Amino acid sequence: MDNFSKNIKSMFDSICGRYDFMNHLLSGGLDIYWRKNIVKYSLLNYAKIFSDCDAGKRLKIADIASGTGDVIKEVISFINKNGGLIKNKQIDIFCADFSLPMVKIAKRKLDEIILHKKGLIRINYVICDAQNSCFKDSSIDMVFIAFGIRNFSNIDKFLSGELKRIMNKRRSMAAILEFNNIFNYRIFAFFQIYYNYFIALLAKIFSKNITAYKYLVDSIKRLASDEEILKMFTDSGFKIFNYGKIFPFIVTRYIAIINNS
Ligand SMILES: C[S@@+](CC[C@H](N)C(=O)[O-])C[C@H]1O[C@@H](n2cnc3c(N)ncnc32)[C@H](O)[C@@H]1O
Repeated sequence: MDNFSKNIKSMFDSICGRYDFMNHLLSGGLDIYWRKNIVKYSLLNYAKIFSDCDAGKRLKIADIASGTGDVIKEVISFINKNGGLIKNKQIDIFCADFSLPMVKIAKRKLDEIILHKKGLIRINYVICDAQNSCFKDSSIDMVFIAFGIRNFSNIDKFLSGELKRIMNKRRSMAAILEFNNIFNYRIFAFFQIYYNYFIALLAKIFSKNITAYKYLVDSIKRLASDEEILKMFTDSGFKIFNYGKIFPFIVTRYIAIINNS
């Protein structure tokens, strides 16, 4: 693991206890809706596009940079309500992150809701660097990455290398949720004030780890624009199935499939 990733890992290790609380606080609870949105959209469309593929096989879903498991929580909740859409397939879910303390929280949270789903859904916990993971080639059908890719040392390299390597070449989808680099647009002064000052203030009051929340803002400032990220996907051999802002100026959803044509 490179030094950049080592620093990020220890930062997430140190904020894990207040991570969920701060997420909900800083987004006014909207982060819950954002994850619900991408999970629902991706699972519905996965079922439509790949309905005939490998009917008998278990569906393998990886939540990469899973943090405390909130995306998986939404996946389970969706399957509970709409199980038929994926034809009662048996599902293997991989909760993967390089921060052990984050994954421990995810396990505690998911153990509580998975109890009655044993058999149909199996959750595996994986501690690994997303950029050099332990997943086998072509082994994953759906990849979720929510608010993770801006923490990777090289997004370009991740998309064309590791992500493409682990995704099933015939029937897979990647669903990525990420902030927008609002700092590219000088006109959005309100959001910039929010990021530059308000987040620091809330972090000071509620988290005691101001550095981590300064990193949050810096990582957004450093992030490529939506257009650049879209280009990285296409240059890496993906087709964008869907792209759009799910919260104006703040959060983007990228749904990509491998371009086999
Ligand atoms: C902002 S949090 C997002 C967590 C979760 N997906 C969510 O929606 O709340 C970023 C997570 O990515 C993890 N992470 C960052 N870089 C990583 C890498 N290279 N490999 C694995 N996990 C990584 C961190 O440990 C952290 O848990």
